Amino acid sequence: MTANPQLNRSGELTHLLSIEGLPAPILWQILDTARSFVNVGEREVKKVPLLRGKSVFNLFFEASTRTRTTFEIAAKRLSADVINLNIATSSQNKGERLLDTVDNLAAMNADMFVVRHAQSGAAHFIANHVAPNIHVINAGDGRHEHPTQGLLDVFTIRHYKHDFSSLRVAIVGDVLHSRVARSQIHALSILGCPEIRAIGPSTLLPRDIGALGVHVYHDMHAGLKDVDVVTMLRLQNERMQGPLLPSPQEFFKNYGLTPEKLAVARPDAIVLHPGPMNRGIEIDSSVADGKQSVILPQVTFGIAVRMAVMSIVAGN
Ligand code: NCD
Repeated sequence: MTANPQLNRSGELTHLLSIEGLPAPILWQILDTARSFVNVGEREVKKVPLLRGKSVFNLFFEASTRTRTTFEIAAKRLSADVINLNIATSSQNKGERLLDTVDNLAAMNADMFVVRHAQSGAAHFIANHVAPNIHVINAGDGRHEHPTQGLLDVFTIRHYKHDFSSLRVAIVGDVLHSRVARSQIHALSILGCPEIRAIGPSTLLPRDIGALGVHVYHDMHAGLKDVDVVTMLRLQNERMQGPLLPSPQEFFKNYGLTPEKLAVARPDAIVLHPGPMNRGIEIDSSVADGKQSVILPQVTFGIAVRMAVMSIVAGN
């Protein structure tokens, strides 16, 4: 076993648990593979046979629309059989231990688990437990990481900006509770992005964020100045303990992305948001629906990126 639990003995990706610690060539391999899958979605027959005969279990212990659905579509476009577990009505609600649920699904000959869980480290925990022929993909664990979201973000950035080597990227809002921000920051750094900024009130920025090489701003005008990419984040109230903000209106006034604030970024800057989006809280509708928004293309590219990840791990 290598030290990195995501890689097999030959250093190939066998689980996708986090972006942190992934070698750059693996990130590039995923992005290049995803590029080749984009047009599958545009064909009349939207399928390739790479995962034919494989059983993919979607294990979502937390609510999700985009991520769960796009994983399902991706698996189906790879010709896999997809089983969606409705956790709200599953035995987990009868107190079954997580690993017992996993063992039972493994006994049904699962080949892959796509896991979303409120607990940071849940996907690692499952990956450590399962037999080596089963692959685990983290679809979001607590506030730790959301690696396929980080990958679809950088795929989208690459699509519009072509190259990371001279980009300035700003991530705005509730970075503290955001697994999306953490995965995106790691992905951008590994791919060689020279300047990453985090903008928000100090109550919503992790104290140690500077250690990741991120520049901290508390003022939108200063933070957005001349950036090429703006990623907006949702206020993740469900993860906040106690009030961290005066009010949503106050937050919008200071940190909500309006056309006026966006105007200090580069004129060709693009705007990303992982969804779900709260209009009028972190983003103004005219920006969300405006010409610089690439929020819906992110969703479409997410399918190709998830196809790439699933086909790569299944092959290793
Ligand atoms: C995010 C998540 O669940 O981490 N959404 C997503 O997967 N597209 C972000 C969020 O919940 O705000």
